[in-house]
Amino acid sequence: MTYLKWILFSLLSVSLVVCAAEAADAQNRLIINADLGKEKINRNIYGHFSEHLGRCVYEGYWVGEDSPIPNVRGIRKDVVEALKKIQVPVLRWPGGCFADEYHWMDGIGPREKRPTMVNTHWGKVTENNHFGTHEFLDLCEQLGTEPYICGNVGSGTVQEMQQWIEYMTFDGVSPMADLRRRNGREKPWRVKYFGVGNENWGCGGSMTPDYYANEYKRFQTYLRSFSGNILFKIACGANKADYNWTEVLMREAARRMNGLSLHHYCGTGRKSRSATSFDEGDWFFQLRNALFMDELVSRHKTLMDKYDPEKRVDLIVDEWGTWHAVEPGTNPGFLYQQNSLRDALVAGVSLNILNQHCDRVRMANIAQTVNVLQAVILTDKEKMIVTPTYHVFEMYKGHQDAVLLPTALSAADYVFENEKVPGLNVSASRDASGVVHVTLCNLHPAQAAEVQGELRGMSPRQVSGRVLTADSMTAHNTFDQPDRVKPDDFRDVKIAAGGFLTRLPPKSVVLLEFR
Ligand code: AHR
Repeated sequence: MTYLKWILFSLLSVSLVVCAAEAADAQNRLIINADLGKEKINRNIYGHFSEHLGRCVYEGYWVGEDSPIPNVRGIRKDVVEALKKIQVPVLRWPGGCFADEYHWMDGIGPREKRPTMVNTHWGKVTENNHFGTHEFLDLCEQLGTEPYICGNVGSGTVQEMQQWIEYMTFDGVSPMADLRRRNGREKPWRVKYFGVGNENWGCGGSMTPDYYANEYKRFQTYLRSFSGNILFKIACGANKADYNWTEVLMREAARRMNGLSLHHYCGTGRKSRSATSFDEGDWFFQLRNALFMDELVSRHKTLMDKYDPEKRVDLIVDEWGTWHAVEPGTNPGFLYQQNSLRDALVAGVSLNILNQHCDRVRMANIAQTVNVLQAVILTDKEKMIVTPTYHVFEMYKGHQDAVLLPTALSAADYVFENEKVPGLNVSASRDASGVVHVTLCNLHPAQAAEVQGELRGMSPRQVSGRVLTADSMTAHNTFDQPDRVKPDDFRDVKIAAGGFLTRLPPKSVVLLEFR
């Protein structure tokens, strides 16, 4: 053997030995069936929710046409630009609890003439109605997003809801369409998604499921599809594990709905409710509650399957996310919270779970887009930052409308005190151009995870990766340090025989793309 051949042979053997050793050590194995898969991950799983609550709509989006903050027809430019980068597919508005107190006619016409109201749920502040139907639909057009409007059942009338639809979508001559034209909009908008009330078991009227099922049937009867705008009617669904609500609604009204909603807030830490000051117990507790989404969705799906085996009715998780204590010194009714690496893990885990259930879950809306709860954007007057949760939405956007790939993951547990959860969490998809996107979360705050991956039905030529992590689990972005948590290139992955080997850092969200 020549000296050169000997060196090449040694290098090859060393790398083979290293690969074999890593593979043997790997406690975590992931199989991705890259040539299978039939369900599409509906892009609407990456939807958002924005309510008239605190500084979400006002300040978050709406600054008014005369504001020194750069805006287009009163809507701030920086926020729209940032949201366009994560491709917001659908936006739910105006609530939330606010929806069942909102009277849409107060929010049309010349702004200076619009009546005010008290926002009784959220801080009892005066709402000036400057952001109404026209402004919301303008925002959706600027974002290139589908509107999802939630109507008022709790304190509204059938006539009011019926007229709202006519106002927005009727192309011909009618009292409401003519009123819309007088207010400056000639052509109707396309408004496909319409919710019939919000949390009608609670802030939306404290109804029993049977009572609401009857109300739903009555209201939806008068919601007409006009001028080619085929309405997609969404009934108010359960709070978390209220399986009886889903059973009754499906039994009584499934054939009259297109979607049934579900709300799941995964709360905050075990002891500390602070968004940025917490320990491992709080971290573990929060992630365990986020993982509960899997059981919740599975059980609601089982009930839906009983009444709708063809899966015609979508499960729409139209409020989800963390709920921490408000930032010190802010109005408790405004739900303004910071957002740390822990929130990013919650987002990563939740979106993976929702992807995995895309045979029935066809929309989800994180609560809420700007300045409220698990926001992707925070603003302070003219300043704007994006949160770790924003980066997860950006990293996951390749899953939108891609085909879910079946995966099998066998992962070491993350054990804390006497409890445990699976240490890793995954979803994978193949987009229209054939690129396979794999998003992995390592929940352990201190231990890296070696993963041996098998890619069945694909021999990738190339793999690239990105990672979101930080030196501490409480790391977050501030107006002084806006890039403390942001994605980096990820190089700890290599293609190996039949698949790949990777090493996920502790407390990380990783995106791998195979071509
Ligand atoms: O997102 C905040 C509130 O949480 C919503 O208004 C309500 O629907 C839910 O209880």
